[in-house]
Amino acid sequence: MSRINAPKGTYDILPRGNPKDPWTVTANWHAIESVARDVAALYNFAEIRTPIFETSELFHRGVGETSDIVSKETYTFPDRENRSLTLRPEGTAGVVRAMIESGAFNDQGSRAKVYYIGPNFRYERPQRGRYRQHHQFGVEAFGVAEPEQDAECILLQMDFYRRCGVKDLSLRINSLGDRESKQSYRDALVTFLSPKTSALSEDSQRRLSENPLRILDSKDPRDIEAVQGAPPAMEYLSARSKAHIDKVASLLQQAGVPFTVDGSLVRGFDYYTDTLWEVVAGGLGSQNAIGGGGRYDNLVEMLGGRATPGVGFGSGLERLLIALESQGVAIPRSAKPLVWLIAHGDAARDANAALLRELRLAGIAADSDPSGRSVKAQFKMAEREGTAFALVTGEDELASNTVVLKNLRTREESKVPRAEIVARLSS
Ligand code: HAM
Repeated sequence: MSRINAPKGTYDILPRGNPKDPWTVTANWHAIESVARDVAALYNFAEIRTPIFETSELFHRGVGETSDIVSKETYTFPDRENRSLTLRPEGTAGVVRAMIESGAFNDQGSRAKVYYIGPNFRYERPQRGRYRQHHQFGVEAFGVAEPEQDAECILLQMDFYRRCGVKDLSLRINSLGDRESKQSYRDALVTFLSPKTSALSEDSQRRLSENPLRILDSKDPRDIEAVQGAPPAMEYLSARSKAHIDKVASLLQQAGVPFTVDGSLVRGFDYYTDTLWEVVAGGLGSQNAIGGGGRYDNLVEMLGGRATPGVGFGSGLERLLIALESQGVAIPRSAKPLVWLIAHGDAARDANAALLRELRLAGIAADSDPSGRSVKAQFKMAEREGTAFALVTGEDELASNTVVLKNLRTREESKVPRAEIVARLSS
């Protein structure tokens, strides 16, 4: 029969990983996810889990009809009742929907800080670091319009990277300003680009009337050439927006986090207002953005909630693991506290079945190979599994009601009465 492979642009996370991509080892994922949870807790963010699919309209209204992510990259399908559903391409819109729906913003001045870890789906051209299913650790903070909240999110993100050990990071920030600033910047950009319309890509010619800011984000060489010398967004900021981004910058400075202000930074979503940021890491090649975020003060209202400011980021976990791997950073993992039961003969195998049950009931992770292989082969398997201890039972041990406890790291061994094993391994 022919083999069925994983869909294009996807990969599997496996106990031993895929030999071509060592970052697919499950334990590596657990390690960075546990750093993410720890850092989120340090900053008092609580976990939220939302569905992987949502009503398509959520992303049209939330992420933006004219963004590439919604217009070209979503997985959208009718369900059996012909409702249009979309696999989430990002986390923010679903989080905002869930918060509104649960009544989190009903009271004036509501605050909420949430984080999530989970998959997102984008129909992009797959390459190293770019997948059709990717995972993000993200945070969203609601209810605080002050720049301190932007800075807190950025510091949390940078602390996450620092704790994971990733090196060679650069943080860029920019501001598109509030609604008024964005509108005057939009007009300035249209004035600048209109004489060059025919030099733009077909997509950007359309964007010029629909969403000119998007052109700054285009990867098409014709557009990159055309936007050279475009006015920087910073020059069109209202006094309030200017004071906001200046304060974010000074808070980052105060915290000792290096960054650059990059007037050309735009991001692929329509919901952003004021602060935007992106972090790139060395060792990733062209897909080098490991995380990005921004403020979105109009999104809650756009999705039908009481006007509530928000700010957050999303950080790609595949890219983080790939960066760690290519930078040669060992991912700290806790040793597997597994005990392996080894039997010499059939009677010992029966005794091990009972001991295995006893250990597991006592909360001690244990395993064995009941297929009747040689003692040597059983030891080999225990070592391949990364086991810490082996418990060996043979005829002598059965007769004396003992087992041999062997530390597979230090090779030390001792005979222990069977009745004392659980206590010994629990200490
Ligand atoms: P984003 O920049 O589109 O932002 O995605 C965040 C991160 O997810 C990227 O920096 C990248 O590391 C990773 N990523 C995105 N697409 C892919 C892909 N196809 N393959 C692998 N990794 C990918 C957002 O999604 C916003 N929701 C972030 C946000 C939260 N803004 C405010 N709150």
